[in-house]
Amino acid sequence: MNRTSLMKFEASLPAPFSFLIKTAKKPVRFCLNLRDKPPAKFEGGLAVNLLGYQVARTLVKRTATALRPRGTVSRESQKYLKSLDQDGIVSIPNFFSEADFSSLRSEFEKLYPHFNVYPIKNSRSCYKKFNGTENAQSPVIRKLFHENKLIYELAQAVSRRAIHATPEVAYFEWLCAEEEIGKPHQFDHEDMLHYDVPYSTVKVFFYLNDVDEKNGAFTYLPGSNRLSLARLKYDYKLSVDHFKNRVGRVAEGHYEPSESELREMGIHEKPMTGKKNTLIIANNLGFHKRQPFYNSQPRQIVYLNFRYLETLGNRFPFLGGPYAHKKTRGV
Ligand SMILES: [Fe+2]
Repeated sequence: MNRTSLMKFEASLPAPFSFLIKTAKKPVRFCLNLRDKPPAKFEGGLAVNLLGYQVARTLVKRTATALRPRGTVSRESQKYLKSLDQDGIVSIPNFFSEADFSSLRSEFEKLYPHFNVYPIKNSRSCYKKFNGTENAQSPVIRKLFHENKLIYELAQAVSRRAIHATPEVAYFEWLCAEEEIGKPHQFDHEDMLHYDVPYSTVKVFFYLNDVDEKNGAFTYLPGSNRLSLARLKYDYKLSVDHFKNRVGRVAEGHYEPSESELREMGIHEKPMTGKKNTLIIANNLGFHKRQPFYNSQPRQIVYLNFRYLETLGNRFPFLGGPYAHKKTRGV
């Protein structure tokens, strides 16, 4: 049962049952969350993290991933998988044929007036999104993304999880207001270096317009997906800081690695610039961020998030999950 059917069921019951429903709601929500939520970036509390819980957790998760089979990897996917293993990211220019790209672009423009607009506090900047649930009905999205063997094979091979449900596929546009150009945190804190979670997690960005260093290019630190002593040291420090300072969601107040930590890890920023029709596949276990906007050119993308592969709902489909279309801002 998903959240919508649960709400409908509640509404259909007579009033005397409301107390029972309220009481029953909490454990049901708890179970649904358990099924639909992927493991968090941090777990436990300060005491266990001081004892190195995050380091142990990272090592266990990485070892378990390495021991799982990769699934089918065709010869075409193989060459991209090599880059994903090595660098944590791959960029594929001219990904679709001209005809397919223009059908996608036309759909984006046709749907554009119906996008949800998310204004940014105290500014005229905004981002616009047409989310996955609605897009699931689109034949263009279905053909180009939901039935895309290459993307699925790579997402499966990197996370080493079988795909039992389609991912969220969303149209996104970021628009930076003139007065915000060049400022930090124009939309959120995703312009700060961070990694998403301590396990392999795939995100896909397809550029619908040209993206360069000036209009919010996704930026990755190649090789930061690989394990090293320096990375474990940073993870330890971050987990302790997280629980000590109660920063909440790390992207909203996390500690970027310092110059010396980056040097120790041997990683450098690489803005993933590209012309329209470029596909970027990233393992967001590695460090990344969105470049600030230095002009008012929009950034328009199609966005896929495979984080749900790690949920119990995807791993055990008989549980009736997963909730793959969870709303998210992405990078
Ligand atoms: Fe991120």
